[in-house]
Amino acid sequence: MADASKRARRAVYPGSFDPPTLGHLDVIERAARLFDELIVAVAVNADKKPLFSLQERVEMLRECCAHLPNVRVIQLEGLLARFAQQMGACAIVRGLRAVSDFEYEFQMASMNRQLAPEVDTCFLMTHQHYAFLSSSIVKEVARLGGDVSALVPANVEKRLRQKFAPPSAGERTEGENHPSTGDM
Ligand code: COA
Repeated sequence: MADASKRARRAVYPGSFDPPTLGHLDVIERAARLFDELIVAVAVNADKKPLFSLQERVEMLRECCAHLPNVRVIQLEGLLARFAQQMGACAIVRGLRAVSDFEYEFQMASMNRQLAPEVDTCFLMTHQHYAFLSSSIVKEVARLGGDVSALVPANVEKRLRQKFAPPSAGERTEGENHPSTGDM
């Protein structure tokens, strides 16, 4: 009993974070206050074609979380439930934006419980300022030259500007596909 109460309470916050937004950062900051240690797990989502490489997403999140001493950013490979077990986590943190998130989250939490019964899923209501946000909508606005400074941390805004900057004449090579014309 005494041992259990002394053990650090560690949680995992998974996502593809392509790119991280202020909504994600809000969840990270709040979860970091609730748990002794928070591991932000950057995943490959097989259903999505990312704009930023896994390495870039990890770097952006490390920059965003530099002010949070109990937050680590790690790549997630394979099953989330197994990763949480390997990390010794007691919880998986997820943000809930709207009722429409519930069904998917319920399915995921139930499957993760089946795979790792000792790891609970903990939901935080996303701040109302960010309830409409998603990484895709941010990419779309940035790609079309809109202002995303109120939606993403400054370092992410800078990287988005670089990604979507029109290539200079010298940079463009024949047949090259610029991100602004490619898939999101
Ligand atoms: N603020 C702003 N946006 C938010 C948000 C918040 N608080 N919370 C979620 N979002 C956005 C995300 O940016 C994402 O946007 P996008 O679809 O435009 O990219 C969208 O909401 C969905 O987020 P999420 O449900 O977290 O999807 P994801 O792709 O980021 O993460 C994983 C999904 C990685 C957690 C899931 O695929 C996984 O667990 N993979 C590991 C493999 C595994 O174990 N699979 C079995 C699961 S049971």
